Order: sequence, then structure tokens, then C-alpha cells
Amino acid sequence: MCGIVGYVGSKEAAPLLIEGLKRLEYRGYDSAGVATLSNGAFTVRRSPGKLSNLIARLEGVSTPGTTGLGHTLWATHGRPTEGNAHPHTDCTGRIVVIHNGIFENFAERKASLLAAGHRFTSETDTEVFAHEVEAAFEGDLLAAVRTAVGRLSGAYALVVSSSEEPGVIVAARSGPPIVLGIGSGESYVASDPVALAPWTRDVVFLEDGDLARVDAAGFSICDADGRPLKRVPHRILWDAVAAEKWGYRHFMLKQIHEQPTALAETLGGKISLATGELSLESELLAPERVAAFDRVLLLACGTSWHSALIGKFLIEGMARLPVEVDYGSEFRYRRPVVDAATLTIGISQSGETADTVAALSEARRAGSPLLAVVNVAGSQIARMADAVVATHAGPEIGVASTKAFTTQLAVLYLLAAKLRESRGLGKGLTPGETAALAHLPKAASRALATEPRVEDLARQFHGARDFLFLGRGPHYPVALEGALKLKEISYIHAEGYPAGEMKHGPIALVDENLPVFVLAPHDNWREKTISNLREVKSRDGIAIVVTTREDAEIADAADEVLRLPETSPELQPILSVIPLQLFAYHVAVRRGCDVDQPRNLAKSVTVE
Ligand code: AGP
Repeated sequence: MCGIVGYVGSKEAAPLLIEGLKRLEYRGYDSAGVATLSNGAFTVRRSPGKLSNLIARLEGVSTPGTTGLGHTLWATHGRPTEGNAHPHTDCTGRIVVIHNGIFENFAERKASLLAAGHRFTSETDTEVFAHEVEAAFEGDLLAAVRTAVGRLSGAYALVVSSSEEPGVIVAARSGPPIVLGIGSGESYVASDPVALAPWTRDVVFLEDGDLARVDAAGFSICDADGRPLKRVPHRILWDAVAAEKWGYRHFMLKQIHEQPTALAETLGGKISLATGELSLESELLAPERVAAFDRVLLLACGTSWHSALIGKFLIEGMARLPVEVDYGSEFRYRRPVVDAATLTIGISQSGETADTVAALSEARRAGSPLLAVVNVAGSQIARMADAVVATHAGPEIGVASTKAFTTQLAVLYLLAAKLRESRGLGKGLTPGETAALAHLPKAASRALATEPRVEDLARQFHGARDFLFLGRGPHYPVALEGALKLKEISYIHAEGYPAGEMKHGPIALVDENLPVFVLAPHDNWREKTISNLREVKSRDGIAIVVTTREDAEIADAADEVLRLPETSPELQPILSVIPLQLFAYHVAVRRGCDVDQPRNLAKSVTVE
């Protein structure tokens, strides 16, 4: 999951490339590099580690040229050294390449290129591509790239430039995303529109198999055989400002605090708070289509998979349709039983997660209609689906997903109500449900108000070695999410578990050193959850109870209590996760971790 950016125009490319890379660093921060072309020669500057190392390296040295490529790496081949950093060049230095993806057959291609006399300087798969272009180059870069992509298999988003064809860059896509940015007298290429926000909001998304020849005047797109293709430009809704920190110390903290607005924006236009009428206008959700579905399949990865687990509760509970949930990475390799009577819903913040994309393609191949719940308009999952119900969380820059999770839950709630309506089990939302949704953004603000208390708990427990999170029903996935947030950004081992399952094993972990978050809101599962809380106490575990009503039972068994506003049981997970997000954040800050760019992770996982 690397970040790639390219520029061709009349301005000095290097400063623009760096600005673009700053906005893409969430995609990978193992090394970074730029290459610019001037007077027929490339200047290549690379550095291991964060982009800040490269920026320091560029100080006081010239990197001339109005054509350039920039890259941030999430290492897949070889250690994140300067030698393995992109851009990579061919033997002559006349071809430079940046790449996001993995070439599966690079070793075999490398062997035949070595046999043909090519010399390699890195351990990467990408460098092989530079030599393939060199071998195929006869004066036309686009033609050489078309030949080279034909020789390598795997996933790729590539940008290539040649000193033999100044003022031109060629992009190619198969899998990871690439957008072309439309400027006047200049053109851009990037992995994600957010990188281009300071300069343009008009972009064209390349599709799988597309190649583009880009120069200052614009671009032409063709397929692997050179046949011209037309792609529709998109105007990106949010601007550069939305991708700023607004004075927050970290993007993650900003995004946690944006949840009330993100929820209001996500609900806006989808329900009438006056009548409870739903307006999820999609032919796929019309009664006659829904009548043909005998089950729903939810596919996702990571935090989005946790949303899917809660989606199962909501859809089965409200629409009485059986729901199956699967990991994208698992679904694509098991021989799933799916057909046209299965409504498949893909959930993804980025809309580019390779495992989810592949799983959805598998479901589609089996004839299942696809609905996408995504946060990035124009993303691959949005474009491959038959219908999209978007979350409007705005750009999510911090690697740990927060506002995307809560807005996904809000959309899944509306989808459950829509399926219920289309199955003739009730028109729109009841007055009680509408009222609960209308109050949701405010309730989320009140949940955020627990922050000082949460910060205090983080001060007390940031030194703990392990954590356990317990919940029942829809709060079991919230427990999973709480554990994931803590693992992701503080590197502490944490497990989420169905509270009822604890006695079947994990209770062996419980002692006076283990903090245990017990999610016990006032719902159907509360009584049983309190008996699990007592099991924790009977082994001296440190019980931190997240609840909506404090009573003697809880006061008696809990060491710490976090009191949250109460809403309907279906919507309560949206509030319950907020203090867990804040806890993970403050523990990570206290441990000096890099909250927005945790080690080994990347925001959008675009390779398998
Ligand atoms: C969550 O904090 C992680 N960033 C990760 O688990 C993420 O949820 C997963 O990679 C799925 O991403 P998506 O929602 O963009 O598809």
C-alpha cells in the first residue's frame, strides 16, 4: 500500500511532489523518494524511513525539473533501505518507475533480464519493471510500458517517465487505484484524490487494465492493446481543508471528534427526521428485488468487518433476513455458496481494500448483486457495485479507522430498516427510531465528553501488558473493535471476546494485572453480561465497565465505570465504541507511539 504521485507542467515538480506525498504518507512510511527530469537527465533522491527524512535530505540540494514522480513505500520486498526505495531506474538511468502493488513473477523475469545483461541494484519487484521497459523501449514510452505490463503478472499501479520523452509520464493500473488530476496547463497522477486536493478536485479514475499517457496539456487513455478509452471525470466533494488537522495533535483525535458531524452528514438526505421516511433510492432495494433475496452476505476486512458483524444483528433483527458475514481474505478462497438470491454488501472505508474487492468480484461471478457501503466516492468498490449507500465521514487520514466505523453502523441501520420496509414488515422508521436517530449526533457529542475520564483511565492503565474487552450481542463486535484500536496504535496485546465465551478459555488470563473492559449497556444482554463481570472480579481482574445506567450490581463489581448516554439497543454500539477509541488514543500518546502512522500498518491495504 504505497503512495504514488506524478506531475507534468510548468512548475518545479519537487515541491509539489512532496506536498502530495505528505497527504499520501498514511499509505506507507517505510521509505520515500522523488525523481525529476531536467535537461534530459533525472535527479533521483530517496531516503529510508518517513517522508520527513527525505524532506531533510532535499534541503539545500537542487532537484530540478517540471516533470516528476514521487513515492512513499510500504515495504513488501526487501528491507526498507534507501536502495529498495522508489523511484527505481533501469541500467541507463533513462527510465524511472514508481509502483504500488506486487509483481508475482518478478523473480523469473529478473533471472531472464540478468541473463540478458541487465544489472540490478535492489531486492525489489518494481526495479524489474524498469528494466522490462528499458528492454522494450523503441522511442515510444507508452508502447514500451504496454509491452512491459504484458510480461509481468500481479497487482500494479505504476507511473513511468523517460528522459527520451520529456514532458510525458505514463500510468498503468491493474488493482491498486490511480487517479489522473485535471489542471490547466499541467496534469497530475496520484493514488488518491486527497493528494491532489491543493491543486484540483477534478479527477479521472483509471480502471483495471487502463494505461494513460499524460502531459501538460492533458491525457489519453487506452487499453492493453492500445485501443482508446473514455473515462468520466469526477469532482471530489471535499477540499484540501477537510484533510487538515485543524489544530488537533493527531488526525485520529480530530476524526474521533468529527463523529457527531460525520453521523449527521451520513444520515442527511437518507431519512426524513419529520416523517421517518427512508430515501435510500436504489432499484436493488425495491420490494420486487428484495423479494428475490433469501439472504444477505456482508464482506469486509478489519474494522469494516466489525461493522459487518453488527450489520448482521441489525438486518436479521429488523428485516428478518438471514445474514452471513465473512472476511474478504477468507471468502475469496473458500468455495462459497452464493447465487443471484444472495444480496452481497461490501463494506469499506477506502473502497480500495484488495481482499474485499476480490471477494466482491467472486460474489459477482456467482451472480450475486452487489451493494457497496463506502466512504470514498469513485473508489473501486463504489464503481464495481450495482448500488452504493455512502458514508459521509469525510477524508479519514489517520490509519486507525474511527468515524468510518460509526458512520458505517448508521448506514447499516438504515439498510436494515429499508430491507424491513421492502419486505413489507413496516414502513420507514417508527417515531421512536426516528427520534433516536435525530438525537444520535448529540448523543455522540455527550459520549465524547467522557474524554477527561477516559484520559484518566489511560494514565492509570497505559503500562498494562494485556487487555481483554468483553461484550454480548452487538457489543461483542464493539469489544473486538476496542481491542483492535488498542493493538493498532499502542502495540499492546488485546483481545475482544463474546463475554459468554470467556469462561471457555480466556478467563485463564484474568488476574490482578489484567484490565478488562466490560461493555454492559442497558439492553437485553445486560444481565448475562453482569454475571460475566462477576466472573472477572472473582479472579481479581480489573473491571472497567462501560454502561448507560449505573446500579448497585455494577457499582459492586466494577473497579471503574464509564457512563454513556443511552439510545436504542440497535444504535448503542455507535456510542459505546467512542470511549474505547479515545482510550486507545490516549494510551498510545502516553506510550509515545506514532498514532497516525502506526508501525507496519497502512490506511488502505491495496495488495493481497
Ligand atoms: C482499521 O483501523 C484498520 N485501518 C484496518 O483494519 C481497516 O479497517 C481495514 O484495512 C479495512 O479497510 P477499509 O475499510 O478501507 O476496507
